[in-house]
Amino acid sequence: RLTVQAGESGKAISPHLIGIFFEDLNYAADGGLYAELIQNRSFEYSPTEQSSWHPLSFWELQKRGGGDGSVGVANMRPIHENNPHYALLQVRTPGEGVGIANGGFGGIPLKEGETYEASFWAYQAFMGIMWGRGDNSKPMPVSLRLETTDGEVLAEAGMEILGRDWRKVSARLTPTRTVNDARLVLLAHAQGALCIDMVSLFPEKTFRNRPNGLRADLAQALADLNPRFVRFPGGCLVHAGGIRRYYNWKDTIGPVEQRRARPNHAWGYHQTMGLGYFEYFQFCKDIGAKPLPIVAAGVSCQHAGHSPGRGQEGLPMEEMPAYIQDVLDLIEWANGPATSKWGAHRAAAGHPEPFALKYLGVGNEEAVTPIFKERFKMIYDAIKQKHPEIVVIGTSGPFAGGEDFDNGWAFAKKLNLAMVDEHYYVSPQWFWDNLDRYDRYDRNSAKVYAGEYAAHDRDRRRNTLRSALAEAAGLTSFERNGDLVHFASYAPLLARRGHTQWHPDLIYFNGTEVFLTANYYVQQLFGQNSGDRYLETTFEADNAKKLAASSVIDSESGDLIVKIVNGAEEPVAIDIRLAGFASDVAMKAVRTVLTGPDADAANKDGEPPAVKPASSTETIRPRFAYIAPAHSLTVFRIHR
Ligand code: AHR
Repeated sequence: RLTVQAGESGKAISPHLIGIFFEDLNYAADGGLYAELIQNRSFEYSPTEQSSWHPLSFWELQKRGGGDGSVGVANMRPIHENNPHYALLQVRTPGEGVGIANGGFGGIPLKEGETYEASFWAYQAFMGIMWGRGDNSKPMPVSLRLETTDGEVLAEAGMEILGRDWRKVSARLTPTRTVNDARLVLLAHAQGALCIDMVSLFPEKTFRNRPNGLRADLAQALADLNPRFVRFPGGCLVHAGGIRRYYNWKDTIGPVEQRRARPNHAWGYHQTMGLGYFEYFQFCKDIGAKPLPIVAAGVSCQHAGHSPGRGQEGLPMEEMPAYIQDVLDLIEWANGPATSKWGAHRAAAGHPEPFALKYLGVGNEEAVTPIFKERFKMIYDAIKQKHPEIVVIGTSGPFAGGEDFDNGWAFAKKLNLAMVDEHYYVSPQWFWDNLDRYDRYDRNSAKVYAGEYAAHDRDRRRNTLRSALAEAAGLTSFERNGDLVHFASYAPLLARRGHTQWHPDLIYFNGTEVFLTANYYVQQLFGQNSGDRYLETTFEADNAKKLAASSVIDSESGDLIVKIVNGAEEPVAIDIRLAGFASDVAMKAVRTVLTGPDADAANKDGEPPAVKPASSTETIRPRFAYIAPAHSLTVFRIHR
């Protein structure tokens, strides 16, 4: 029997419980959520990222119809000091064109009839004059084409480059047919030389049509989770690679050609920083989620894989004031008036109103050593003093349960922190065995942010229904403890097929498709059916080991939402009682069931999902019988 104290007002819980954690691993940013279709657009790829990479990686010299010339890399007089390299194209014999081609991230996907914004920066170099053949007083004719791999032209635009100053040129291209493996080709048509940088191609249709925006289908999949907050940019990404390589938010704002691209020190590829702080905050605003940035705590990552041979290092004390100032500047950038120094940068980017930053994470999973404690406290004290309105979120240390974890909590309690971030990647059974974890936490101490969690099944590459239901059971306990657990986010969020470094993830994708896992649907059902008050919910069952339930009220709609997880092999007959309601009242309810053929069921790319929610509408009474299918999550959304 399941009893919900539906006649009572229950207890207040976090209305922001379900959120997302975006980290750039598995090509989640470039080649992922960031809609840019050109790979290595600014010729900044380097062997420090992958040993075979160099500034011309993913570019190919083109010599068409008798054309002859070469392409190299130069760094004199770049567009901006943060963007030092560019391509130097020399045309000896123009033929039908000499240039460069880029196939994006494994082929550029194009849709017939849709428009793409192509652009590049260029100026005429002196080289041609030095050979005594080119003439820089005449413009260089250039064409930009979208082509198939065998050279069929799908769209084309012409332009001219004249002069010795960097200039941006753009063209709108509309391909004549849909292909998934196109290339962007830039061809010069006269003798001479061109300096070329920032070659870019964006679909005109980005999420909410933002310029420099996000891939619409992926961003929509995130929005469909109805996340109440977005944590970014990491993860270990914020502090990997050694001490002075932490992620610097200031490198990620301003015109894209002036941002400092860099190696992704945690995950070993390239970050254009085209998806930067402005884009993260704008996305949060677009989907009505709270921004939750994480900054490094003045120490580097201790994980051997992320800072090889270095262990945890601390910023030298003499560098801490400048670092702390960077953190304070971030708050001013997000919340300050457009007339403030950093607020003016935000306004110049097109957002004069403040972004209403309230939460800021300092640190990610650090070993809670004296080096860490000293620096964390300095940053925390400075924020508290200058911005008492900001809620600083600390860290419990690496993974729930270890020695550092206890140290992390003891330190947080000593500082009287408002919230602590806990991480756990554990077995499905761990979730079932620890459903009472937060029931036991001290209510007079910091709130909990379950910042990274996932149930890892035996085969970590499979997002099984078993793992998803274990997370669902965990989420019922988060809701029950929603007075303490303020935020929760599954991790990791996104993974591009062919570039997946970590399994399992919530959402997989390729260039054109998005694959939703069973775990995604669990997050979605909790995200779309969250509440702000918790009603006491009790199961009386002979064998309640694989049963979990929670009930919340969504005050805005007035709906009562009951979630039931049956992780057992058999269906379970449940006598549901909504105590406190008159016994004859009839109520409309939407029942949504997420289940699959067995606990091992997992959705496969390109096939109809084996695990997917199905909804029906029914009329229920305060006492009703329900058979929860084997391996299922059921959500009753009851209009009272
Ligand atoms: O989510 C993947 C990684 O797991 C994160 O970067 C890190 O915080 C954790 O170790």
